[in-house]
Amino acid sequence: MKRILILCLGILTLALFPFIIQACASNQEELTQLKEQNKLLKELAGPLPASLDNFFPPKAQGPVWLLEMFALESYFSGTMTDVQQGDSASKISTNFKAFKTQYQKMSDMVPEWKNLFPMKPVDDLGAVLDSGDMAKIGPAFGAVGEVCSNCHVRNLVKAHQKYHWPSFDTVSIANPLGGTALGWKDYMLQMSLAFGGIGNDLKQGQLGNARKSYQAFSALFKGLPQGCNACHATPRTYFVDASVQALVDEMGKALDAPVTEAKKVEELSGAIGNESCMKCHLVHFPAPDTKARWEKFADLFK
Ligand code: HEC
Ligand code: HEC
Ligand code: HEC
Repeated sequence: MKRILILCLGILTLALFPFIIQACASNQEELTQLKEQNKLLKELAGPLPASLDNFFPPKAQGPVWLLEMFALESYFSGTMTDVQQGDSASKISTNFKAFKTQYQKMSDMVPEWKNLFPMKPVDDLGAVLDSGDMAKIGPAFGAVGEVCSNCHVRNLVKAHQKYHWPSFDTVSIANPLGGTALGWKDYMLQMSLAFGGIGNDLKQGQLGNARKSYQAFSALFKGLPQGCNACHATPRTYFVDASVQALVDEMGKALDAPVTEAKKVEELSGAIGNESCMKCHLVHFPAPDTKARWEKFADLFK
């Protein structure tokens, strides 16, 4: 009996053997695939390589990387216009050689990005330009353009946000309610509390408190444009301009009316929230939000 059992088990194992091997192999394949996906996701969502810092202030005098990109672009589009205009082979080749030299130079600047500057599409373009085979020229330019956009789609906006957006953490605004100046976020929180307080107090029938909340909100809102000047050398008033200030003033009048116009206050609150807070957030949130995400999830991006 025992022998038969062992025999049966043996046969079963043998029969299953190919499936086990197959399952292991496909697990291995899936693991490799997941690892690759994970690497790509980190690249898409994570911070830029640290060595890029060497080519932007404060480490560099100016935005060196960007200036080098402009040079790369000028030789690249120069080559393209020369071809389009039917210029002499020597003109085309001068521009192309300068492009290739600049491309090689840039491929060594950020070691983490070495593989994002493949040589093959550039060498292929050189060969096609030498051959003068017009039918192949378009696709050969296209392949190099694909190299540019493959990196840009991953990194260009990140570079804008990291190196060209000043941090809101460096901005402080005089507190119109007294006390020391407030950092940007604290100012926002104070203003938001006062703003929300108005509706909350009205709902609870606390008219006196609603008016107090309004006074605080109005003062904070009027003080906000000073904060804009920390980044905008040419004054910007959109989001806090006279038309929005007028909504804020109207809200004060509706609250002060002999019979408080609660419905109107609510409508005006919606209009201010929409025209000022929301629209300004749509423009100004992405950059600080990206930086906050890189900090918050730093462990994931290691
Ligand atoms: C410059 C245009 C601008 C305007 C106008 C503006 N905000 Fe903001 N607000 C910001 C930015 C930028 C941040 C995020 C700052 C950061 O994360 O560093 C922010 C953050 C906030 C926060 C979150 C604070 C935190 O701790 O994360 C609140 C709440 C807020 N705003 C409320 C308001 C309200 C309410 C209004 C309108 C009455 C308003 N904001 C108008 C730019 C603006
Ligand atoms: C390995 C990454 C990478 C590759 C490859 C690359 N770029 Fe860039 N490029 C960038 C980054 C990052 C920026 C943003 C720099 C900044 O904002 O300061 C940029 C910015 C630019 C800009 C300025 C655009 C703007 O509005 O800010 C131009 C023009 C440009 N690149 C041209 C090219 C061309 C042409 C190619 C291909 C021949 C190319 N780049 C390949 C990373 C790359
Ligand atoms: C921490 C820096 C910072 C602060 C503070 C800031 N902005 Fe901006 N804002 C920017 C940057 C960067 C851009 C992108 C284009 C640019 O630089 O003009 C921008 C874009 C804008 C734009 C659209 C493009 C333009 O220049 O017209 C408007 C309008 C604007 N901001 C208004 C405001 C207002 C109003 C405030 C204050 C309530 C404010 N900003 C506060 C950094 C800031």
